[in-house]
Amino acid sequence: MYAVAIDGPAGAGKSTISRAAAKAIGFLYVDTGALYRAVAYDILQNQIDPTDQKAVCGRLSAIEVHFGYEGSEQQVYLNQENVTDKLRTPQVSAAASSVSAIGAVRQFLFSQQQDIARENNIIMDGRDIGTFVLPNAQVKIYLTATAEERARRRFEELRQKGETVDFQHVLADLKKRDENDMNRDVSPLRQAPDAIVVDTSQMDFAQSVQAILKIIEKKIGQGKK
Ligand code: DC
Repeated sequence: MYAVAIDGPAGAGKSTISRAAAKAIGFLYVDTGALYRAVAYDILQNQIDPTDQKAVCGRLSAIEVHFGYEGSEQQVYLNQENVTDKLRTPQVSAAASSVSAIGAVRQFLFSQQQDIARENNIIMDGRDIGTFVLPNAQVKIYLTATAEERARRRFEELRQKGETVDFQHVLADLKKRDENDMNRDVSPLRQAPDAIVVDTSQMDFAQSVQAILKIIEKKIGQGKK
């Protein structure tokens, strides 16, 4: 099996770029952030403070999270309910950043990520895929862009959805998540020593996908279907 690990900060375009690259080579795309978001969603639904480690850990035994696929589209199930469409709100984003800093939560989600890689050719994106979840991945990419550019893209995305947003607010939120993700004690966001850095600040979407595909092709040849 082939594994491509794509890590990087929030808003670097990891999921859209990874999804398109996976489609192009017939690999399964795995968005691991959705697992953390599903846990965060459950925590919020149960009125638990996502920064309260003890309370979050106490809730884990009542949670079951797993991946599913509809065609090539990943779905995430929380206690058998498909919650995929409920995970992309700012509240869930912030809570996911908090719960992902808890070691027990990371451990809780670890095996799902490894299991899916064992049975499929995958492009998996997250924060610690190349460093921790799949240290033996044949390809490791660290996908990044400046904070301002990442905030600009997110701002446009939210505006297009019809949401009233303030750019400075989006930028501050994003910097806060960077700070959380990079400075937590367990599995912080780090570039793996053997990862290739792709900075998409000056690239459009198509160029970013091409850059990724070129690296994959160089490392493992044409994607095996
Ligand atoms: O990629 P995303 O924005 O959907 O991720 C949501 C949160 O989950 C983010 O704050 C970092 C965390 N996360 C993580 O710690 N490890 C991963 N492999 C994926 C996501």
